[in-house]
Amino acid sequence: MANTDFPPQPPSSILPPTTMVQHHKTIQQSLALQILLADRLVKSAKEVQPSKLDCSDLAKLATQLAHLLRSTARLVSSTTATFYDRPLRSIFSNLSLNLERAQTLVRKCKHRSGILRQVFAITTTADVRKVSNLLESSIADIKWLLSVFAPDDNAGVNLSLPPIASNDPVLAWVWSNIATVQHSTQLKDRIDAANSLASLAGDNDRNKKMIVEEDGIPPLLKLLKDGSSPESQIAAATTLCTLATDREKISAFVRSQAISTIVQVLNDSTTIVVRTNVINLVSRMAGIDSWVQEEFGRENVIRPIVTFLANDIVLDDSTSGGFHLSSSLSFHNRKETEPASPEEKLNLKISCARALWVLSKGSLSNSKKITETKALICLAKLIQHESQELQINCLMTVTELAAVAESNAELRRQVLKPNLPAARTLLDQLLRVVNHETNPKLVVPAITTIGSLARTFPAKETRILGPLVSKLDHEVSDVTNEAVMALTKFVCPDNFNCVEHSTAILEFNGVPRVMGFLKSSDNIKIQVHGLKLLCYLALHVPNSKALEEGGVLSVIEGGARSIVAQYPEMKELLAKAVHHLKFYQAGSHAHKPAFGV
Ligand SMILES: *[C@@H]1O[C@H](CO)[C@@H](O)[C@H](O)[C@H]1NC(C)=O
Ligand SMILES: *[C@@H]1O[C@H](CO)[C@@H](O)[C@H](O)[C@H]1NC(C)=O
Ligand SMILES: *[C@@H]1O[C@H](CO)[C@@H](O)[C@H](O)[C@H]1NC(C)=O
Repeated sequence: MANTDFPPQPPSSILPPTTMVQHHKTIQQSLALQILLADRLVKSAKEVQPSKLDCSDLAKLATQLAHLLRSTARLVSSTTATFYDRPLRSIFSNLSLNLERAQTLVRKCKHRSGILRQVFAITTTADVRKVSNLLESSIADIKWLLSVFAPDDNAGVNLSLPPIASNDPVLAWVWSNIATVQHSTQLKDRIDAANSLASLAGDNDRNKKMIVEEDGIPPLLKLLKDGSSPESQIAAATTLCTLATDREKISAFVRSQAISTIVQVLNDSTTIVVRTNVINLVSRMAGIDSWVQEEFGRENVIRPIVTFLANDIVLDDSTSGGFHLSSSLSFHNRKETEPASPEEKLNLKISCARALWVLSKGSLSNSKKITETKALICLAKLIQHESQELQINCLMTVTELAAVAESNAELRRQVLKPNLPAARTLLDQLLRVVNHETNPKLVVPAITTIGSLARTFPAKETRILGPLVSKLDHEVSDVTNEAVMALTKFVCPDNFNCVEHSTAILEFNGVPRVMGFLKSSDNIKIQVHGLKLLCYLALHVPNSKALEEGGVLSVIEGGARSIVAQYPEMKELLAKAVHHLKFYQAGSHAHKPAFGV
């Protein structure tokens, strides 16, 4: 729809008061112009002599229009909230063209005279009928508008179609539902309208796009923020969640200052289910757009989320360092006003853990903020005591934090070094999962996490490598693959303790297991990791009997022949490993290798 009458406006319900006044003024100015055009049409139509053409119908219609426009002006000026003006803009741009067309026709009739009058009259009568129809459509449009914005009590959402949207019923539904969410004085109607928008949005992407383009986000945020009832907040949060499906739509959220609004709603919320829904909205938005992910962190969404996650968790002094958890979070957790079922409480924690997972993913600043709270110890406790989705989400959060720490020495040192109490508790849990859990959804991320932390472990940390090596002949290939990759991080030359770790892996009987892994895997990408692991072992402990007895040399030589074409970056490493092994194994005449760590 063309919006020729208005300059572009920011989304309506977020306007600060002075801009809101201007916004209403702009609408009133446009209304004044339409009223002027309608009045002028009334006057001109009455001036046409009936002997020339009967324009009395046009005069009547124009009078009715002027009347309805004045009602609209009264409606707008009586509205205290920002006026939802999308349908009004479309209707007016159509109306002003219709009024101009009618005016042109009337002018033509007024000045007509002479002998051709008879001939003209025939075509002009058809024109008058056409223009009358257009004016009637505009009248119906404005009547619809008035009924939507000032509905009879209990009339609900007006489901009839204004002529302007007759080709696109969804547009009319979208308009009337958005207008109801923004303006209705009945909370129940606002909730129903928000739910109708969710159901329209759920149908297809075109509907979602239309709701966003027709400025549906600000009224929904207003409903969320009003906090009139848990039900209204849940309806708003759910609908917003349904709309937040891609970056383009989420940029409309951002323009409406959704992020600070959402964080504030979360801060002020006193109901478990509202919190859950709002946090789900945070996860949805942050998972799609990395700028939004960071912005949520900057707006301090992490503290309330960690507080809700930590609720009810008892920490003993040896791990917590004697702090009270709640004070260390320095987030004022508002008392809940409504009782919640155990299931609702669990769902909140599941949502919190998922949100921390999404917020930490690849984000150093969010990961730092999460670890600045006592989240780590809470996550460890939940991994210890919970099961299923909550346990998995907590573990995934830890995995993301460790992945960020893998490339950030400061975070590794300050938070995840195993001599720190929280990190130690966490490591205990990771090892428990690796040793005792069977679900790969838990075992795999636990191994990944240990791999990411490979550079934090001292040489004498003996608890870790045995369990990882034992996973090399696990029946689930995701587990063996992850174990190979994790072990590689222990023995690569970047790792300060790579020689000690290599020796330990050999002591845990790692060689036959890696060889078995290479044999059973037919995925060359994975085999490359296995070969890498063997090469590092060969570089760091070349004189090992296990390597000689395991036939590692011939496997590496075979690898050098078969994969180098595809993985040229492996060429040097394979060659060095062969060189080292040959020096020790065959009593060959090769010089002692110079490469060392
Ligand atoms: C809906 O709008 C139409 C005009 O399009 C009007 O005639 C009708 O009375 C309205 N219905 C309600 C329930 O307000
Ligand atoms: C105005 O809307 C009517 C339908 O209500 C349509 O038939 C007409 O073509 C529109 N006029 C313009 C100029 O868009
Ligand atoms: C959070 O709520 C507390 C009161 O419960 C208030 O003092 C604080 O300013 C609020 N913070 C934000 C970011 O809204």
